[in-house]
Amino acid sequence: MADVQTTAAAAPQVIHREDYRAPDWRVPEVALDFDLGPARTVVKARLEVERAGPGPLLLDHGGQEIVSVQVDGAPFDARNEGKRLTLDLPGDAHVIETECVLAPETNTELMGLYASGGMLCTQCEAEGFRRITPFPDRPDVLSRYSVKMTADKARFPVLLANGDRVGGGDLEGGRHWAEWRDPFFKPCYLFALVAGDLKANRDSFTTASGRKVELGIWVREADLPRTNHAMQALKGSMAWDERVYGREYDLDVFNIVAVADFNFGAMENKGLNIFNSRYILADPETATDADYDAIAAVVAHEYFHNWSGNRVTCRDWFQLSLKEGFTVFRDQQFSADHGSPAVERINQVRNLRAAQFQEDAGPLAHPVRPDSYMEISNFYTATVYNKGAELIRMMATMLGPDRFRRGSDLYFERHDGQAVTCDDFVKAMEDGGGIDLSLFRRWYSQAGTPKVKATVRQDGSDAVVSLEQSVPPTPGQPEKKPMPIPLRMALFDTATGAPIGEERLVVLEDAAADMRFEGVGERPVLSVNRGFSAPIIVESDRSAAELALLSAHDNDPFARYEALQQLMLDTLIAGVEGGSADFAPVVDAVRLTLENGALDKAFVAEAVLPPSEAFVGDRMSVVDPEAIHRVREALRAELGRTLERQWRAAYLGSASNRFELTPEAKGARRLRSIALGFLMAGGAADAPALAFEQFQGATNMTDRQGALTVLVSSNAPQREDALAAFYDRFKGDALVLDKWFTTQALSSRADVLEQVLALAAHPDFTLTNPNRARSLVGAFSANQRGFHSGDGGGYRFLADNILALDAINPQTAAKFVAPLGRWRRFGEARGALIRAELERIVAKPGLSKDVFEQASKSLA
Ligand code: PHE
Ligand code: ZN
Repeated sequence: MADVQTTAAAAPQVIHREDYRAPDWRVPEVALDFDLGPARTVVKARLEVERAGPGPLLLDHGGQEIVSVQVDGAPFDARNEGKRLTLDLPGDAHVIETECVLAPETNTELMGLYASGGMLCTQCEAEGFRRITPFPDRPDVLSRYSVKMTADKARFPVLLANGDRVGGGDLEGGRHWAEWRDPFFKPCYLFALVAGDLKANRDSFTTASGRKVELGIWVREADLPRTNHAMQALKGSMAWDERVYGREYDLDVFNIVAVADFNFGAMENKGLNIFNSRYILADPETATDADYDAIAAVVAHEYFHNWSGNRVTCRDWFQLSLKEGFTVFRDQQFSADHGSPAVERINQVRNLRAAQFQEDAGPLAHPVRPDSYMEISNFYTATVYNKGAELIRMMATMLGPDRFRRGSDLYFERHDGQAVTCDDFVKAMEDGGGIDLSLFRRWYSQAGTPKVKATVRQDGSDAVVSLEQSVPPTPGQPEKKPMPIPLRMALFDTATGAPIGEERLVVLEDAAADMRFEGVGERPVLSVNRGFSAPIIVESDRSAAELALLSAHDNDPFARYEALQQLMLDTLIAGVEGGSADFAPVVDAVRLTLENGALDKAFVAEAVLPPSEAFVGDRMSVVDPEAIHRVREALRAELGRTLERQWRAAYLGSASNRFELTPEAKGARRLRSIALGFLMAGGAADAPALAFEQFQGATNMTDRQGALTVLVSSNAPQREDALAAFYDRFKGDALVLDKWFTTQALSSRADVLEQVLALAAHPDFTLTNPNRARSLVGAFSANQRGFHSGDGGGYRFLADNILALDAINPQTAAKFVAPLGRWRRFGEARGALIRAELERIVAKPGLSKDVFEQASKSLA
């Protein structure tokens, strides 16, 4: 066949879920031998393979130099096409030996074996293992691994892999070796090794059955003092999973390694989790309260994967939510158990709306269990993770805690050691929990955020709640069927705000249904989707007065928050669409919230924040970023001015002199910075000075960054001083410098684009470190007003960076495409400018399939 010139537009193959076939070969035993060096690493692999079907053995690879392929000790002529070796093997069991050569220090994609800050580490999920050694790189091939590593001892004194260390020693020429063995069968995406000059924070945990587990968090020596929070979180997670899910840890060792260059948050490799250092390192000087919380959540998440992901894994990558949705749900439960459940839920929902609802409403919408992909890395999405978690939560809500636990016990017991599907999970919930989930399964296959219209009418002395659902069309899915929607609802007295009867859990299964509440009397106020029991958009005809009543009286804290958010949202939309709006009901509701001594500060701080500009935009047919910004700033100014006394009281009442990580202390810090923001918005003459004072006097990063954030969006003269001081103090600390970039990228000033362009030219800016790239490019593209400002300069900036990053790290580059996919929502002029950038991206010769998939789908 003649050489065919392929372009990205013609090339990438689409993989379909329906095409799944079980593998023809099993690989029960794998022995790997690494001769490690940054410039050159030699990998020898020995695979014991067993026939399971009629076909050839297929070994994926990453295009690395393959020195030899042997079968049963003799050279073998494998066909090599499309980055895959095909071996037509005669018998039913063989030993395959391969040797290949890697160059970790030139691996900028950070997949497979790569170098970061002088160490060597691996990242294999989803399809990175093939870049290390030829292998059937699919999650339904489960093997036991032995890993031998040899390296220069001075440069790489620590050699880690999965499982337990079974041997090691010194060699000639300053070299040494270590061997590790993992007794558990695992898919190759969970393989990991690390070589580096690292030090460990060591501790131990004794499991419920009395097994002592050695724990280690490995970092550069200088970072050791910043690992204690992660260690506490790890031990807390181990105890929590025993208590709440009955899941014990299963190896004698559990290691975590922090690396500076990492495409995602962290990775759950068996017994050897590898983390983006931002989710390990913390001290009060450099980490905010949000960072501390994120560290605990990610440590828990990766630890929980040991059961939900590793012991029971995915059959194929379409089932990714099997492990990710469930594990996110588990880490959310863990966080709720360690802080304020209401504030946790508020943050989860805010995050879901910001990331997942937007995804579901655009050209990249896909079901929680996708049907096809070009590049699986593009499906580590808010839909698979966060909406996936919401599906688990809905099942848990419908079952109640005891039956949900019976379902999860059955799931782990039935599928331990297997690679299974989302449907297997649902089946275990059905069988263990005693519930019929046949209609519920639609949540896994239908994309799009359902809308539920909820209205109340009076019928004699009864109240009738009418519910009507619709699921919008999404790419490839023009028609939708109704889905079972569990709705927690309650009624409140219109006059007094007192609850009428108990909360009910209603499951709306059909397109529409009426729910009768008997003997209610006067037309009551409806509180619906309490606790955000379903990931939907509620459309109700509740008046400002009714929402205000709920915001003051609802006995579900999340529903109180929602009522005030809805009131603010309605007000902002009225302002944007009508040019003016009555702010008075919002001001009154915020005043009542601020003056309500029964509410904790953490809750108050979240409740009084108006919905983000992006969230307001999501509810409009054509987004006008400038108008939204103007009206929202006007509301903030009005709240700041009218309630100045209350903000001052909140500010002073929340001054904390001692740094503690209790929910109370964190809530006080949060309220303090939010009050400061309102004082600034209201134009209080002393606000800039207060902010600068808070900035300079801060004993912790939460207060410091909180003050900096307020100053950065202002024209106050202290702004530049604070930015310069921050830079000088933290320029040696990459994680803190990321905050310096992000804070500026999120500025609400009109000139933010100019500043972002200047920052991109700053000597500390680089695209090679994903955290740094996200800190500026990613953050700016989420700044609705700034990104859409001017003549499309924001779009050009983003596209330029996507193209530059694509040449270095396609996986991370592809993550930046989504904001361009929203072009339809921003009117014709902006839409045309954005499309032009997408077309420029798609036309680029040599574009990765990662970026091609996202950009071409965004244009459709
Ligand atoms: N599996 C990881 C997690 O969610 C995420 C991840 C995916 C990390 C791909 C790296 C690469 O816990
Ligand atoms: Zn995960």
